[in-house]
Amino acid sequence: MSVNKDIRRVTTHTLHEMKVKGEKISMLTAYDFTMAGLIDAAGIDVILVGDSASNVMAGHETTLPITLDQMIYHASSVVRACKRSLVVVDMPFGSYQGNSKEALNSAIRIMKETGGHAIKLEGGAEIEDSIKRILTAGIPVMGHLGLTPQSIYKFGTYQVRAKEEMEAERLKQDAKMLEEAGVFAIVLEKIPAKLAEEVAKSVQVPIIGIGAGAGVDGQVLVLHDMLGLTQDFSPRFLRRYANLGETMTEAVKQYIVDVKSKDFPNSSEQY
Ligand code: KIV
Repeated sequence: MSVNKDIRRVTTHTLHEMKVKGEKISMLTAYDFTMAGLIDAAGIDVILVGDSASNVMAGHETTLPITLDQMIYHASSVVRACKRSLVVVDMPFGSYQGNSKEALNSAIRIMKETGGHAIKLEGGAEIEDSIKRILTAGIPVMGHLGLTPQSIYKFGTYQVRAKEEMEAERLKQDAKMLEEAGVFAIVLEKIPAKLAEEVAKSVQVPIIGIGAGAGVDGQVLVLHDMLGLTQDFSPRFLRRYANLGETMTEAVKQYIVDVKSKDFPNSSEQY
């Protein structure tokens, strides 16, 4: 195996240093070798093999159906492509809730079978035992609070979370608990910017936001959303950096025209 000695791998320690220095952390999702290789080479700090693969890759309405085996397949493909980024793998719904021994076994499978560098799971006090047990095995854990899509049937909507005082208080306590347990970072999804900034200032660990404003330590987006590959998802927090969906459609239409008109292949495109 050839190892490029010039490339310095991003670690959980690097992220901590970035927070201390006030340098923002960039994070995107990826689910396959080709996309992961492109964003790793572009210099992204963290790649999340998100359970949003359930929506983006498999076309499910929610993140609930994706299995541990499917997450392991996606994550191992991503890891093979990454030379620099820290690769974090989402633990899927049903692989860690309510049973800390099962949580540890699931996390160990992810680490052993994918080569990923850390796991992420959703929730606070209700999964404290699972988080602590996984951490005791030396597995780095990223927390995820606010809108936690695996609980969509409890919330009932994908609207902004923690707008009310009681939920905001609980979120602050959960963030403290996660920090004290030893997580290396926390994702805050779709909560008021003021609350997210307050949390980021009150803990030492990096806070990565999605729909949580600018006062946090880094940002994450779903790759297919920011590239304009998904068409029918336009929340306020999403900035589209390209319109690859349209570019692909145009390319495929042109290919069809060229095949039908016998323009493709031409004499230099054959043996
Ligand atoms: O699965 C995912 O893509 C995520 C991000 C939205 C943070 O958890």
